[in-house]
Amino acid sequence: MCGIIGYIGRSEATGILIKGLKGLEYRGYDSGGIGVLNGKELTVVKAAGEIKNLEKKLKDCRAPGRLGIGHTRWATHGAANETNAHPQVSAHFAVVHNGIIENYREIKESLIMSGFTFNSDTDTEVVPKLLELNYSGSVEDALKKTLPLLKGSYALGIICTEKSDTLYCAKNGSPLIIGAGNGENYISSDINPLLGRTDKAVYLDDGETARISADEITVFGKDFEPVEKEIKSVELPQSSASKGNFEHFMLKEIYEQPAAVAATLDSVTNGENIVFRDFPFTDDEIKNLSRIYIIGCGSAYHVGLMAKYAFEKIAKIPCFAEYAGEFRYEEPVLDSRCLVVIISQSGETADSLAALKQAREHGAKTISIVNVAESSIAKMSEYSLLTKAGPEIAVATTKAFSCQAAMLNMLCVYIALHRGACSAVFAEIALNMSLLLPKKIQRVLNNTEKIKETAMRIKDTDKCFFLGRNADYAAALEGALKLKEISYIDCVGCPASELKHGTISLIEKGTVCFGIISSRRLLPKTVSNLQEVISRGADVTVFAPESLGNSLGEFTKVITYPDIIEFLTPSLEIVPLQMLAYYTAKEKGLPIDKPRNLAKSVTVE
Ligand code: M6R
Repeated sequence: MCGIIGYIGRSEATGILIKGLKGLEYRGYDSGGIGVLNGKELTVVKAAGEIKNLEKKLKDCRAPGRLGIGHTRWATHGAANETNAHPQVSAHFAVVHNGIIENYREIKESLIMSGFTFNSDTDTEVVPKLLELNYSGSVEDALKKTLPLLKGSYALGIICTEKSDTLYCAKNGSPLIIGAGNGENYISSDINPLLGRTDKAVYLDDGETARISADEITVFGKDFEPVEKEIKSVELPQSSASKGNFEHFMLKEIYEQPAAVAATLDSVTNGENIVFRDFPFTDDEIKNLSRIYIIGCGSAYHVGLMAKYAFEKIAKIPCFAEYAGEFRYEEPVLDSRCLVVIISQSGETADSLAALKQAREHGAKTISIVNVAESSIAKMSEYSLLTKAGPEIAVATTKAFSCQAAMLNMLCVYIALHRGACSAVFAEIALNMSLLLPKKIQRVLNNTEKIKETAMRIKDTDKCFFLGRNADYAAALEGALKLKEISYIDCVGCPASELKHGTISLIEKGTVCFGIISSRRLLPKTVSNLQEVISRGADVTVFAPESLGNSLGEFTKVITYPDIIEFLTPSLEIVPLQMLAYYTAKEKGLPIDKPRNLAKSVTVE
């Protein structure tokens, strides 16, 4: 995690760095810092907590200079305090880092034996110290000797006090781009901070380093020989990264869902058919698939689990949802008849990237569903489907999740059709119904009263249970994650069928339980399980489509949403659960967009 930024040009660096860091804060907000060089004089200013604390501090101490680097931290090694904030420094170097130097202990011990002293508990501090050890006037030579010694992942921004006209950077396993401006250049963990400053970028590959002046960018390959890199035009996101009239990004993003889902569907349909441009797999290869793995972390895993049921029912193919962080260390039996679908909003999640690598190494076919076109996962997969959610800023994902669900539905129908597992008529119905989703989501969004009442009622509870079966179980997991990550209520998503095998012992008088029921087939089963918790005093609210409302007369609290064909219902039932999480956290007055200990993009394992 962590976000890094760098600037070299003709303007004062500080303001640009601070603004850039605010655009990267979703990557971590434990501490922030900048290092700015003026001639040979380096000013380093750091503060614990959000970037606004750093900004406040800079009102009292200026950091003049036109070359600088900045960092926003999600703590991995060492407490979230000022000492451990970046830049980390040595006599001639200041370094900002995103990633983990896995062999830092070993390096640190050798450096201490060589006479270096360390101030922080970070893994990063070994980098400026190693550069110092290897420096004798040429930064390029110091990098050549230092980088091969580092094990792990890094995106590094580096300044040297003897090179006041040069910014250096290096990438291995963590995202890093160079923004190419007019008489000024940038480095950044992602495109956000560059918007409005430049729309031209160079995307670095692993093993590459760069030397950047105000007017020139030179990229070096793994062997430190210069390499030609394309300067690409950056596709600007459709929706801006501002809150508009909304109190929080999360609420804005919840309300953007109809438009985001419509744009996602529009990008892969022509009104009548699903069109995946340049799809690399032939019909024979699709027919020959033996199984599908859908892989992701957190919510991305949940959306994969939701889709698993649809793939098995409609495409009639064995399908498994897996946590990326588990899959990467498994010894899966994979071959070219397996399709691995990696889901990731950011396209940079370290575990998901490693799972993709594992799938490719074993010869599986790979497709990614990402929200960032030039992301590492998009680039590494054989085929990538881009969701059109636009920038998602709130840590708790909402619109990206809904767009992933919509894209997975399209992939499911496409594969079903091309395997001959569903008829053209079914595919047409599924597509037409999917195109109605945005309107139905809008209806859910227009109907907030009962959800707000529920949020008021549960805000002081210390635990909640979300219960469902099959795809509703996946929705239950996502509902629980949404509520716990922003309200800090201990929430458990549990298969309704599993209750009596242990979890039911936690149910007592007043325990809050949510029943998630979208399927008429499974309704009697889940209802029985809910009756079992009611018998033990639980306070139960059921979420269900309108047409099932009549069958739920025995429950006093039912929240309904519009009907849609069964395989699309999970895509809809998730929306009231997102709203429940939002309004509960709001009632509790919590920092909804930036919950404690979390970061939007998890680029360390
Ligand atoms: O960028 P990704 O989709 O790969 O991120 C995966 C998870 O970290 C993410 O979905 C996380 O669980 C969300 N904060 C949940 O709201």
